[in-house]
Amino acid sequence: MTSNEIRKRAARRRRYFVLLLLVIIALIFAVTKIVSRAKESVPAMHQGEPNDSLVVIDDSRSTETAEASTDPGVTAAEGETYTPITETGEPGKQVSSHGSLYTVKPHIYVRINHQKKIPLSLAGGITPDEIRWTTNNANIVDVEAGGYVTGLEKGECTVTASYKGEVLSIPVTVRELNVIDGCTFVDDILVANKSYSLPQSYDPGLLPVTEQAFEKLCDDAAAEGLDIHQGSGYRSYDFQVKVYNSMVSGYSKEYADTWSARPGYSEHQTGYTIDCNDIQNEGFADSPAGEWLAEHCHEYGFIIRYPEGKEDITGYNYESWHIRYVGIEHATAIYEQDLTLEEYLDIDSKYADDETDSENEE
Ligand code: DAL
Ligand code: ZN
Repeated sequence: MTSNEIRKRAARRRRYFVLLLLVIIALIFAVTKIVSRAKESVPAMHQGEPNDSLVVIDDSRSTETAEASTDPGVTAAEGETYTPITETGEPGKQVSSHGSLYTVKPHIYVRINHQKKIPLSLAGGITPDEIRWTTNNANIVDVEAGGYVTGLEKGECTVTASYKGEVLSIPVTVRELNVIDGCTFVDDILVANKSYSLPQSYDPGLLPVTEQAFEKLCDDAAAEGLDIHQGSGYRSYDFQVKVYNSMVSGYSKEYADTWSARPGYSEHQTGYTIDCNDIQNEGFADSPAGEWLAEHCHEYGFIIRYPEGKEDITGYNYESWHIRYVGIEHATAIYEQDLTLEEYLDIDSKYADDETDSENEE
């Protein structure tokens, strides 16, 4: 080989080497770009935050294509897009893992032989008939298209709404109503409202469990410099006759029915109820003692029985002073989910002469 040929071969090798180097650099650049784009397209909740099946998403709105997602559960058809739900307007409510479904009811309470519709909100573009509803226990509830749940047997189970593999699981409690010696119980809770009365002879007095819990509540309030004391406590059937009749004669039957229970229908006759302080003091709700009571009474097993804004459900005006003992577990669930006892037990509160389909005969 001549020296000229050797030089040519060496130059050719250098050109190949430079070309190879350029190809490697271009490949590294392309791979880096793809990885960083993929990271940007994944919602924050998939980047190392706890990946429960139910996550409450922050309120930054965004639109993404389902097929661009790294969530293996989402298998949208090519080109299909939807807008995930990124704000519920109600902090603490349940949103599915990818944000396509949410419900403002984190827990459903339904009685045996009653039906409830689970309220479900869907991301834009998803229609209700695309949702598949299932239960993990078909003995306890029956669930139909549209999220209609019927209680079959007392117990707890989960109902799941699925959309293309993405799931929203909702706990369901099925309750049982029993009438024992004329008293109505839903599970272990004695009920007295406009739909469910107590026998005239039912006369337990203020129950020790109520008294003890109230004493502790008053002591703890006092330690914070607040005066909470008993105004009215136990009221017998006969005493309630006087309370109710005096309001009817002072005002009218219609007016009385919004503030005072008819004899036999008052919770004060259960032995679990106390009116705090002076109910004539209309400012109690906004007083430091009234505000403390609303925020803390569940810690002692009490609920504000007739909350503001729920008058149509309880059948009574807002009474910031009227507390009912149900035990700490029930009281905390009711407080945290912002429910009335009627919603928690899935019962009505209506007098038989207020409507034709009264439940008092169950
Ligand atoms: N104020 C309540 C409704 C009662 O009379 O029992
Ligand atoms: Zn009361």
